[in-house]
Amino acid sequence: MQTQDIEKLQERIRQCDEHIIEALIQRMQLTRELAELDKKYHQPLLTMVSAQGGGRSGNHDGSREDNPSEGLYGYLDTMLRGCPDETMIREIYQTVMESTKKVRAQSLFSCNILLVGFMGTGKSTVSSYLVKALGVEEIDTDRLIEQREGRSIAGIFETDGEAYFRRCETQLLAELQKRKNLIISCGGGMVLQEENVRLMKENGKIVLLTASPETIYGRVKDSRERPLLNNNMNVEFIAGLLEKRRPKYLKAADIIIDTDGRDVADICEELIEKVAGSAE
Ligand code: S3P
Repeated sequence: MQTQDIEKLQERIRQCDEHIIEALIQRMQLTRELAELDKKYHQPLLTMVSAQGGGRSGNHDGSREDNPSEGLYGYLDTMLRGCPDETMIREIYQTVMESTKKVRAQSLFSCNILLVGFMGTGKSTVSSYLVKALGVEEIDTDRLIEQREGRSIAGIFETDGEAYFRRCETQLLAELQKRKNLIISCGGGMVLQEENVRLMKENGKIVLLTASPETIYGRVKDSRERPLLNNNMNVEFIAGLLEKRRPKYLKAADIIIDTDGRDVADICEELIEKVAGSAE
């Protein structure tokens, strides 16, 4: 009798597992289909991100809303009221939502997205937003080089010079292009070397962010971390260097996005629409 009870319970658990697996397979499949339709009918492609940094989705994937009583989170709250496993179930649900974002991202683009542009054109800000909205991995080439070298960019320039730093950039790019679905935020000088551009195009879309010298100055004026600007922090110098580099930036770019006076959500939506469109 006892063993029969155990077997019955085991069977019911197995059935639960089957439901979960089937539901997950179906959810991911539907997510892919929805991404395709959103692309086709020019619907917004990005899940929105709250200013606090927590993810918030559009209506269709049911992930965390800014207002927790909205959408499926309201349903979850009701269902979990008094449930002893509330915390665990919320964690699992959150994981499913994050995975859904990734699946959606894979449907929208399969390459790496390389953000390039002059210092202060918003690469890091755009990168952080995209990463939250798409659940994909972010690489900031400057930060990764700093980590590996165990010193700041300014320190590298001071001790080993710019040429050494540029070699680090090329090495890192070669490594990153073996992976996919990354958002790679590149240092402002990355596209100056033809070899780098070649590497970037192997497996990535190069997105150039642009801004006026005045906007750039406004964004970088308080920073001490950019050795090229440290003794030249003024609009004239920025305008001159930008002009000198412009042909290389333009030549490298697959997609160009102006960031002047725009909010990050708007910039990222245009970016993903163009990347997704160009992948077809
Ligand atoms: C550089 C830009 C910097 C950094 C280094 C050199 C450049 O990155 O890589 O100081 O040559 O434009 P950001 O564009 O992220 O500031």
